[in-house]
Amino acid sequence: MFERDCAGCHGPRGEGLAEAFHPMVAAQHYRYLLRELVLIRDGLRGNSNPAMVQLVKSYAQADLEAVADHMAQLPPPDPKR
Ligand code: HEC
Repeated sequence: MFERDCAGCHGPRGEGLAEAFHPMVAAQHYRYLLRELVLIRDGLRGNSNPAMVQLVKSYAQADLEAVADHMAQLPPPDPKR
């Protein structure tokens, strides 16, 4: 799910893409990620990327939990790379 829907913007390992202002989502706290996803889905995050909002809107609560869990378990990117 993450690989298909999110990696294009956030990177295959959730490392983000600084040049495009796509934030790193790897290795953040599950509860934080889930809260942000709910806000994104409900359109309550003012500056949310519109393509991401459309995508996340189609997710059920269980999908949000699964993808938040996945991101939380991604190892933090190596700053040397
Ligand atoms: C079209 C590009 C794009 C796609 C696809 C996308 N995102 Fe994002 N995402 C962004 C951008 C840009 C931001 C930063 C601005 C914002 O909050 O929308 C962001 C922010 C976030 C944040 C908040 C990060 C933080 O530190 O607060 C989370 C969590 C997130 N995305 C998760 C996801 C998940 C999960 C998916 C797949 C279901 C996804 N994104 C798909 C572009 C994208």
